Amino acid sequence: MLKLICNSCQKEFALAENRVVCDCGGLLDLVQPLEELKKLDLKKTFDARLGSRTLLDGSGVWRFRELLFPAQKIISKWEGNTRLYFSEKISQEIGAEIFFKHEGENPSGSFKDRGMTAAITAGASAGCRNFVCASTGNTSASLASYCADAGLNGIVIIPEGKIAFGKLSQALAFGAKVLQIKGNFDAAMQLVNELSRKFDPENPSESVYILNSVNPFRVEGQKTIVLEILQQLNWEAPDWIVLPAGNLGNTSAFGKAITEAFALGLIAKKPRIAVVQAAGANPFFKYFQSGWTKFEPVADPETIATAIKIGNPQSYLRAKRAIESTDGVVLEASENEILDAKATIDAAGIGCEPASACSLAGIRQLVKSGEIKKGQKVVGVLTGHLLKDPDTTIDYHLGKLANVEITKANRPIAIDATVDAFLSAIR
Ligand code: F0G
Repeated sequence: MLKLICNSCQKEFALAENRVVCDCGGLLDLVQPLEELKKLDLKKTFDARLGSRTLLDGSGVWRFRELLFPAQKIISKWEGNTRLYFSEKISQEIGAEIFFKHEGENPSGSFKDRGMTAAITAGASAGCRNFVCASTGNTSASLASYCADAGLNGIVIIPEGKIAFGKLSQALAFGAKVLQIKGNFDAAMQLVNELSRKFDPENPSESVYILNSVNPFRVEGQKTIVLEILQQLNWEAPDWIVLPAGNLGNTSAFGKAITEAFALGLIAKKPRIAVVQAAGANPFFKYFQSGWTKFEPVADPETIATAIKIGNPQSYLRAKRAIESTDGVVLEASENEILDAKATIDAAGIGCEPASACSLAGIRQLVKSGEIKKGQKVVGVLTGHLLKDPDTTIDYHLGKLANVEITKANRPIAIDATVDAFLSAIR
């Protein structure tokens, strides 16, 4: 039987109790019935659904539903099914086989849609109508889109002036109620945590249901990023999976997916995970460096990668477990490393938003330190689309970013509308 367990006080809840967090404030984990699941031929089932024209089998999340949870009626936008690019150019630079899983190809342009379809399905099935999140931008865009589609009330709390324009424009356009607060993401998250304590499972339609990754169903949906990578690699695990880290929901989901896939025999070895924070927003990196002895939030996080400008990540205990269970590592990347990696991914014709480029920044560090060996297979996860934050890209190429090294600027050239001017410009 599926159940939820508090990772702080170990209290158990049945799924039907409609819980998002525990009474003690601890986060809940959904425990999969692995012994029952072992009896199924999951690889065959998942592979048979590829290319299906029905939503339930065709969604890149619900295709893996045996490893999620049962749902009467799914709220889905065919999310997932994102490309796994092999980059010849970057592989040559690195000396390893480098793939990029482009989660920016989801319906709202980020990986959040995978967690959103799962959590909003769970909330709506429980009778909830009002959905809220704190966000650095992508979660709000995703929530707004799913709520609009399903006719539900979407409310997003964002730090004023601190989210990329592409994301703000999505939340507004999709018609969510956009509440801007004066503080940063951590302050918005604190407000949402207070709201979550007021959630009344007995009266869901009048309550506000939380769609941040503290919600265990978000984690279940995001596990499918890993499951889809494994399926695309024909169930042969890569050596490494590298991803950016902010609030640490995705890190938690990756650890859970790898642990379950290995326990179920879907893969013969566990990929190691490396998660990468921005150096100005690095509490989890410092926690790892301390040998897991001291977790301290960063009071005033700062980075150009606004998606991961987070000082007090909520899922740090779940994420610690993910790192430990995959022999993983935690890294930090400087602003220069992030921007150079982004310019490299962009110039390879793939493109991503700044936070996503932490993946390549981390891969480069692991190659330098010798942890990634020649010829190994590495998947970098690109969490958001290039067009989420066009301002940063343009400012980079126009040389308008202060205090960063710009090595790959591609400046536009103003010319007269004549053939001579054209020829001299392309010479
Ligand atoms: N990459 C992007 C593009 C993100 O938007 C986020 C998180 C992350 C990486 C980090 O993932 O939080 O699970 O560790 N964005 C959240 C938001 C916080 O509100 O959109 P994480």
